[in-house]
Amino acid sequence: MKKLFTKKDIEKRVKELSNQLYKEYGKEEVVFICTLKGAVFFACDLLKNYKGEARIEFLRVSSYKGTKSSGKIELNLSISKDNIENKNVIIIEDIVDTGHTLKFLKGYIEDMNPKSLKICSLLDKKSRREADIEPDYCGFEIDDLFVIGYGLDYNQKYRNLPYIGVIDEWKNIVNYYYTIL
Ligand code: IMP
Ligand code: MG
Repeated sequence: MKKLFTKKDIEKRVKELSNQLYKEYGKEEVVFICTLKGAVFFACDLLKNYKGEARIEFLRVSSYKGTKSSGKIELNLSISKDNIENKNVIIIEDIVDTGHTLKFLKGYIEDMNPKSLKICSLLDKKSRREADIEPDYCGFEIDDLFVIGYGLDYNQKYRNLPYIGVIDEWKNIVNYYYTIL
């Protein structure tokens, strides 16, 4: 497994994004929607660095099995309309791959009439896009690689790695997991 972004790379970029969001939204309250489970580390760091007035809500969708998308999106945790209507909303995602998940989420939130709606994703695999959607703010653009760590999982494992790594031969991760930390 290769390290793609170190803990330091991530910290630096997340701070930049927080500052950018504050510059654009600082005068008004923002409702940040963290998508569970993948975006949780990113959302925590982004919000700890964010200096403006902020609320946090959580959504849970599932769409992935192993390294291939199952293609089916399920909403496992919803949000009440009171928390969204007439508010500035930013969806915090871990990664945009085919874009189907984000398209679904965007539609779900749009139906609740937010004042504004933007998407902030830590990672973007642009070359894999199938749905017509782009994040408004993005941490890093990456090639078509399966990544783990800093919230991202492979079958629910490796989310707690403090860096972002690439799975080339997934079988090898287990051997590297404890030694590379
Ligand atoms: P999409 O619907 O194809 O855009 O998939 C989005 C979701 O798939 C993300 O929120 C992740 O949970 C998951 N996903 C996509 N690529 C990766 C990856 O490289 N590593 C881990 N999870 C991924
Ligand atoms: Mg996800």
